[in-house]
Amino acid sequence: MTKLLNTYAQFPIEIVDGHDYHLVDANGKKYIDLTSGIGVCNLGYSNQAIKDAVSEQLNHIWHTSNLYINSKAEEVADKLCPDDYQAFFCNSGTEANEAAIKIARKATGKHQLIGFNYGFHGRTYGSLSVTGYPHIKDGFSPLVPDITFGEYNDNASLDLITADTAAVIMEVVQGEGGVNVGDYDWLQALQAKCKATNTLLIIDEVQSGMGRTGYKFAFEQFDMDPDIITVAKGLANGLPVGAMMAKLAIAPAFGPGSHGNTFGGNKVVMAAANQVLTQLTPEFLKTVQAKGAQLQQLLADQIAPLANVKSISGKGLMIGIHLSDDIKVADVISTLQDNGVLTLSARGNTLRLLPPLIIDESALQTAIERIKIALA
Ligand SMILES: Cc1ncc(COP(=O)(O)O)c(C=O)c1O
Repeated sequence: MTKLLNTYAQFPIEIVDGHDYHLVDANGKKYIDLTSGIGVCNLGYSNQAIKDAVSEQLNHIWHTSNLYINSKAEEVADKLCPDDYQAFFCNSGTEANEAAIKIARKATGKHQLIGFNYGFHGRTYGSLSVTGYPHIKDGFSPLVPDITFGEYNDNASLDLITADTAAVIMEVVQGEGGVNVGDYDWLQALQAKCKATNTLLIIDEVQSGMGRTGYKFAFEQFDMDPDIITVAKGLANGLPVGAMMAKLAIAPAFGPGSHGNTFGGNKVVMAAANQVLTQLTPEFLKTVQAKGAQLQQLLADQIAPLANVKSISGKGLMIGIHLSDDIKVADVISTLQDNGVLTLSARGNTLRLLPPLIIDESALQTAIERIKIALA
């Protein structure tokens, strides 16, 4: 009997090797990867510069604790943060959101938080409490109090934001929730309401950030100006990392002793993150935008017309194919695995695609052809 707790419904595949956007399983079967390890290995599986940076750091020092100066973390924060923000490093998306919730409450002196239905922010208590999925909270009560949920993309939910609200936490493209793209006007109205009520706006870019939608942060396309930004997943291309960035006006709420963790800013992880950020140039992001446009065109031409496809949503290389009830997304994923393509699901019978950002056009074409066959 396995000694692993049964928290994941695993596929009967063990991935043992990877090259760029291809993965190889223990039987030598090769797959086109449209998952990036759930939005993590955005720069693929064999990025030499990242490997070199990590190897170089491994040969010096791995870990020093945060009691000592960490120039590697300084360098990553410089590259990661927009002007007027400071970063706190941790090890995952859920921890980044924990830090965001804590600093928001401390900086405002208020405790009420607002999340959105089908927003996903993680599994630890604070992040779980602001996550808008009732079923994944089952059995874990009592959760963090003073949290209310609004409907995503619904103007009525803006009425929930008042002068008593500490912060609103949201994704501008909900990932796990079904690849739901925020409506530009709604996001603008939400931001205006936050400003008018002195409510902090936390944008969770854990899945949508680090180039996934063709921009360093997805909120850039919606002209948003968050007070707090969280990232994780793609930041170190597969080594565990998270970051919470707070505007300078809020940042002093986290003084010495107010928050911390043992591994955050670990030098090996920072070596990888530094390389990721070095490669995330405006030119590279333009290539992602172009591939996103190409993928969306392929989907519009070949997948949208299929009888069992209800609609397609997404931004850049973050895509949801919404299937009709006649076909189960789990079956489509299995068929695609048999046919050498790895894909993901999201809420609502959605086939989710998060290909490595370095995937090439012919691989995208091949993958879409195989998806078409699987759906037919
Ligand atoms: C938007 C978003 N926030 C937070 C998380 C939690 O990140 P982690 O699993 O690294 O804790 C996820 C994970 O899927 C996510 O998609």
